[in-house]
Amino acid sequence: MARRKLIAGNWKMNPGSLDEAVGLAAAVAGGAASIGESVDLLVIPPAPFLGAVKQALGAGRVWLGGQNLSTESRGAFTGEVAGAMLRSVGASHVLCGHSERRQLFGESNELVGKKVRAALRDGLLPVLCVGETLAEREAGTTNAVVAAQLEGGLEGVAGEAGVVVAYEPVWAIGTGKVATPEQAQDAHAFIRGWLAERWGETATLILYGGSVKADNARELLSQPDVDGALVGGASLDAKGFLAIAAAS
Ligand code: PGA
Repeated sequence: MARRKLIAGNWKMNPGSLDEAVGLAAAVAGGAASIGESVDLLVIPPAPFLGAVKQALGAGRVWLGGQNLSTESRGAFTGEVAGAMLRSVGASHVLCGHSERRQLFGESNELVGKKVRAALRDGLLPVLCVGETLAEREAGTTNAVVAAQLEGGLEGVAGEAGVVVAYEPVWAIGTGKVATPEQAQDAHAFIRGWLAERWGETATLILYGGSVKADNARELLSQPDVDGALVGGASLDAKGFLAIAAAS
C-alpha cells in the first residue's frame, strides 16, 4: 500500500505574537485546498498559541501538533505541558526528542522514550526525531547513533501504534546545509530496515528534516523512503510551506 505523505511545520519558538501565529495558521489553512489529497499537513506552533491556531485552522485538513510534552499526566510540575492538555486543545501529534530538546535541554534517549509512551497514553501520535551530529557522521557512527535513538525512543512501543519518525541530521538543521537526496535516502532506508526488524512490515512514516525549502523539496521527497518533511524555518512563511507540500 502506498504510504501517504506528511508535511509538518515546526514553528519552534516563533512567531512572536498571537496575531502573527493566527495569521500564519489562517494562511496555511487557506492554501491547503490546493494541495493533493494524498498529502497531510501538520502545523506545530508554540504551546500558548495552540488553541487559537486550532480555531484559525477551522474544520479543514491541517492537523495540529505540540512541540514537547511532559511524561506526567498532571500535577505539581511547574512549566510543563501534559499530553492530555495538548489533546484537549485539538492537537493530534507531538514532537518527541527534537534535536534542540536533546542538545539544549539535555533530553536523553531514555527520557525521549518515556515521552513517546506518554504521548501514546494520552492519545497523541508521537513524531520521534532522530539524527546524528556532524562529528558523529564524520566518525562513521551515523547508523549506530540513529539505532540507539530508535532503541530508546521506541522502547515498549508496538508497530501498530502509529508513531512517525523524523530523520533530522543535526548538521542540516537551521544551517542551510541540506542532506543530499542520497544521504537522506540511505538514512531513511536504514531506519525502515531497523523498524522492519523490530516490527515486521510497517507503514510507519519517515520524514526528513533539516533545511527543507521549496526549491530542494521535490528531490528529497521523491526518494523512495522519504515520506514527507519536518520543516522549520521555511514553515514560518505560508507560501513557502505550501510550496513544499505541493512538491510532494
Ligand atoms: P530547519 O529546521 O528546517 O529550519 O532546518 C528543521 C527542524 O528543526 O525541524
